[in-house]
Parts: sequence; structure tokens; C-alpha cells
Amino acid sequence: MGFRRFIDGLRASGRLVSVTREVSRDLDVAAVLNALGERPVLFEAVGGVEYPVVGNLFGSKRALADYFGIEPHELIPKIVRAIETPTMPEEVEAAPCREVVEEEVDLDALPILFHCRKDGGRYITSGVFITRSASGIQNVDFHRAMQIGKDRFAVRVVRQRDFDALLNEDKTLAVAVCIGNAPNVLLAAATSVPLGLNELEIANSLEPLKVTRAKTFGGMIPAECEFVLEGVVRLEEREAEGPFVDLTDTYDIVRQEPVFQVTCITHRRDALWQALLPGGREHQMLMGTPREPTIYKEVNGAGVACLDVNVSPGGCSWLHAVVKIDKMREEDGRRAIAAAFRGHRSCKHVFVVDRDVDIYDPVQVEWAMATRFQADVDLVVREREKGSSLDPSADPETSFTTKCGFDCTKPLGERSKPFERALFPEIDLLKILE
Ligand SMILES: Cc1cc2nc3c(=O)[nH]c(=O)nc-3n(C[C@H](O)[C@H](O)[C@H](O)COP(=O)(O)O)c2cc1C
Repeated sequence: MGFRRFIDGLRASGRLVSVTREVSRDLDVAAVLNALGERPVLFEAVGGVEYPVVGNLFGSKRALADYFGIEPHELIPKIVRAIETPTMPEEVEAAPCREVVEEEVDLDALPILFHCRKDGGRYITSGVFITRSASGIQNVDFHRAMQIGKDRFAVRVVRQRDFDALLNEDKTLAVAVCIGNAPNVLLAAATSVPLGLNELEIANSLEPLKVTRAKTFGGMIPAECEFVLEGVVRLEEREAEGPFVDLTDTYDIVRQEPVFQVTCITHRRDALWQALLPGGREHQMLMGTPREPTIYKEVNGAGVACLDVNVSPGGCSWLHAVVKIDKMREEDGRRAIAAAFRGHRSCKHVFVVDRDVDIYDPVQVEWAMATRFQADVDLVVREREKGSSLDPSADPETSFTTKCGFDCTKPLGERSKPFERALFPEIDLLKILE
């Protein structure tokens, strides 16, 4: 479908809120995105810049599923298939993202947003970073980037992930930061797959993708994105990055992070800037959704019948996973917990429930815990493991944390006191109350 056609569809069906009054890129846009929650918004006039800004496009499973023309429950199998069978995108010469080549680099001319009062600066949050190492490995992922000059950013690079590994190897990496992407690229960029697998091949399996060569290096980039900022990231050149409100709605700390020097900007003729509100529903969707298939795969791979996974919003769509299983053996709950932690390394708490529990209803999950869980046998504690750098309760230096699994499945076999939720009889209220 593509980014543009999706927005056209939202507009035609009356689901796109259009803000025609001029707003500031400093705080206003973020405040409106936050106030509107999951509702997509187009800011037609942003002070001081000529480009409109669009945001909250994919703030729910329903919105992501609508994009692909499927039901929300079909997302996990679709992403699993795409990861298992990546395919080569079509390479094209004529690319919309190259329609305009800016004569000089001036980041102030772009609607880079200031999101929250105590942030360290204006940030790009929706930028898909594409790099190609000296050894020819293409990697695609996300990095928040804080503007620190007319042509420079400080980029948050989480240690021991793929980009960090390539940067440590090469010391300087050519990158293209692509902004204005559809969910095939966004979800693929957010997956964690073995280094060497080009995530754009996963994107192409989610939905056919056209790619083109970056202008300044050999990397492949989505030809139909809105903006491309090319340049280099240097390991040794560092600047302060942060503070910044990230996924957990808490301030992340200031760190010395690598600098991204921008050397070239290209964009579509009528380019649209894609906003991504930090900690907002869309950010949560992009973080959590690609982890559900990897947990699902690991649990099934461990010989436990996994029926569904929800990386739940109450856990910032990152730190908590609720796993629904068809329990066959007494140890299935514990096996599922171990597998879920393998499927999502940053996860802190895993809740395993039976098939009769709605994993999208936090009250039902809590009910399962209240009625089926005994801490002395059903609790799995894993002390001092590497967790998420986004969790304020983890060690700020090392990200070490204590992980925990809750087996909230009912024991197998007959018991004198049943675990099943009793059903009241149904009744036609209209008949009774008339
Ligand atoms: C919206 C969004 C923002 C992200 N921001 C960052 C970031 O600032 N720095 C970072 O290192 N990873 C960030 N990530 C996570 C990386 O994309 C993540 O490390 C990647 O998906 C895992 O890929 P890897 O296995 O190649 O490291 C972000 C992910 C999403 C979805």
C-alpha cells in the first residue's frame, strides 16, 4: 500500500485529524500527538519549516493490521513468516526519495521536533538507520538522534547491539537515515535478527518494497521514503546526548554518544515528516510488536504449544510479556518462561496463562495470577541478568536487572476446588426489564 496511500485512506475515511492552524515544532506537535493518543494527525503548517508533519499513524495493532489488510491476530504469523523467509526487494533507479537534493545541509530547515520540556534538544525519533559495513554487511535499525548543530546529531547507540558491533569494528560507518516509512520497513527495522541478515529483505516479505542505492555509499535504502539524511557516524567522536523521555515515559540519562555528521539531504518534492511520539502508543507498537513473534517462535520451539503473545502496554510494550499456552505437561509454564526470555532479551517479567484467559485484558491476566499462581512453586527468579537500558530500575551503568517469570497456568489433573471461571446463565434483559 505504501505510506502515502495509507494516509490518503485515513483522510478519505475521516480518520485523519488535520491541524491547519500553525503550530510550533517545539513542544506543540508533541503535545497534540500525546493528547490525541491513537488518532492519526496531520500538521499542515509547522512554524519555520515548509514541510507538513504526520504522526500517530500506527498506534494500535488494528492500525498495523489494517495497513497489511489482515486481522490483528494474523500479525504474529505474518511477521514469523517474513523473518523465516526474507526475500530480495526490487532495486530501482528512479526513487521518489531523491526527487530533491538539497544544495546545503541545514537541519534547521527540517521539522525536527522538541518533544518534552527537559529534553536535551530537538530529536529525530522515526529515523530508520541503514548502514553497510566495510565487510559488506547491511544493518537496519532505529536510533534516536539529538540535533546538536546545523549538520550534526548525537546518536543513541545501545551497546552490544548490531549497530554498535559494526561501529566498533569499522570505527566510522556510512549511514542513511530514512524518515517517512510504511510498517513493512518500520517493523523490519525493529526486529532483532542475526547480524548479516538485511532487514529490508524481511520488509520485502511483509510487503513488496522498492529499494535504491544510497547516494554516498553502497547501502540499499527504501526508494519511497520521504526524507534521507546521509553521512557518517564516528565511534571516537562523542557528544552529550539526552536527557530524553523514552519508551517508559521517564527521562533517560545524559550519555556521551557517537556523532552523526550529515553530508547530504534528499527528499520527495512534497515531502511529509514522520513524527513518532516517544513513549506514545505508536512507539510502543513498534517496540513490542516485533518481539511477539520471536517469543512465539521460541516457546513453540521449546515444545510448548504457544497460542498467542502480548507484549503488553502496561509494561511499556517492552518489559512485560503475557504468553498464552495450551498446557500439556506440568512443566510447560516454566519452559515457556525460559523460552520467552530467549525470545526477547530485554523482557523483565513474563506471565504465562492458559487458553481461557484473554491476554489483552489486564484484569483477566491479574485474575489468573490471583487464582492460579503460588509463589513458592510458580515463581521463576533470574537474578542479575542483562535487561533493558530503558528500565529506570535496572542498573544505569550495566542494565543488569532481576527478571521474573510467573506461571499463572492452572495445575493439570483433577482438584477438589476447580480453577475454571464459572459462567452465569445468559438472559434476554430486554424481556426481564420491560
Ligand atoms: C521506535 C524505536 C526507537 C529505537 N531507538 C533506539 C535508539 O535510540 N538506540 C538504539 O540503539 N536502539 C533503538 N531502538 C532499538 C533498535 O532498533 C534495536 O536495537 C533493534 O531493533 C535490534 O536490532 P539489533 O539486534 O540489530 O541490534 C529503537 C527501536 C524502535 C522501534
